[in-house]
Amino acid sequence: MYSVETRSLSKTFGTVKAVNDISFAVESGEIFGFLGPNGAGKSTTIMILTTLLKPTSGQAIVSGFDVMTHAKQVRQSIGYVQQESTVDEYLSGRENLLLQARLNHIPKDQINKRIDEILELIELTDKQNDSVVTYSGGMRKRLDIAGGLLHHPKVLFLDEPTVGLDIQTRRKIWEYIKKIHKEFEMTIFLTTHYMEEADQLCDRIGIIDHGQIQIIDTPENMKNAMGNEVISLKFESKNPDDFLSQLHKIEYVKKINKDNDKLTIFTSNGTQVIPEIFKISSTLEIKIISISLTRPTLDDVFISYTGREMRDDDAGFNRKREHAKMKRLRA
Ligand SMILES: Nc1ncnc2c1ncn2[C@@H]1O[C@H](COP(=O)(O)OP(=O)(O)OP(=O)(O)O)[C@@H](O)[C@H]1O
Ligand SMILES: [Mg+2]
Repeated sequence: MYSVETRSLSKTFGTVKAVNDISFAVESGEIFGFLGPNGAGKSTTIMILTTLLKPTSGQAIVSGFDVMTHAKQVRQSIGYVQQESTVDEYLSGRENLLLQARLNHIPKDQINKRIDEILELIELTDKQNDSVVTYSGGMRKRLDIAGGLLHHPKVLFLDEPTVGLDIQTRRKIWEYIKKIHKEFEMTIFLTTHYMEEADQLCDRIGIIDHGQIQIIDTPENMKNAMGNEVISLKFESKNPDDFLSQLHKIEYVKKINKDNDKLTIFTSNGTQVIPEIFKISSTLEIKIISISLTRPTLDDVFISYTGREMRDDDAGFNRKREHAKMKRLRA
């Protein structure tokens, strides 16, 4: 059974095709990740699936209900944790959850029990009566996630659950997501631009770029398809085309991506390929500046499908992004 299904789903803003004819399905109980760079169409898709945006065309079905014709039923069956924290800083953790419980129409006689359970699960019982203003970023995120779980949704949508958090805190959040998934046996649909996150958490990953799905597969299959090793190489040459065509002829080379003076070579046998590269470079008088051999990361998979690297998560970028988001919310 599917928890989420889209058929030729599209969303256009003016001339921008934010989501462009996507069809995919998420199995019940799966952790499915939408991985893609800035502006790929991840949030737009999530907003359609959570009934906050109407699609321009196509169909989306969540928990068996059409988002257009049965929006209320969809909303009752899902939890949605936005990227930006929605908790009230001046209330305590518990007060925030009480508010959330009322908004979700949870029966009065069950509210306290559910809040106790969830506080326990995300390990915030001890801090429940402190105001959120004293919470760390990771604690706030846990509280945000708790708010999306109170009504025991069948499908939980997490839009970039760990963006802006440090690596230790991100790892902790991954643990909580795994714990929640096990405890509630729910489907989780998350978006991320962190390769490691998708790799760690997801049963399957859909890579989205320019509003279109480039590939859907398990992280393991994606990495295997690339060969089991990656050679990253920087070089200097006036004639890179010759170099590239020679490299393609080396046995065990599966695929090569070129980004200016950087090459990413996917191979099933790096130790055999590297000496060949040096032979070719010395014949063609090409200077190799650096070379390294690693296991493929999802970053490499992404490059191979989209031809470019994932974006960096720098502060300036995030500011621009938040600005764009606010403009969108006001629109
Ligand atoms: N309300 C809107 N009006 C106009 N354009 C929009 C609107 N919402 C999204 N877009 C555009 O649609 C495209 C997809 O945006 P979306 O927010 O879905 O991307 P994303 O993958 O979530 O990116 P990010 O990683 O930055 O969150 C972008 O080009 C964006 O500028
Ligand atoms: Mg987004």
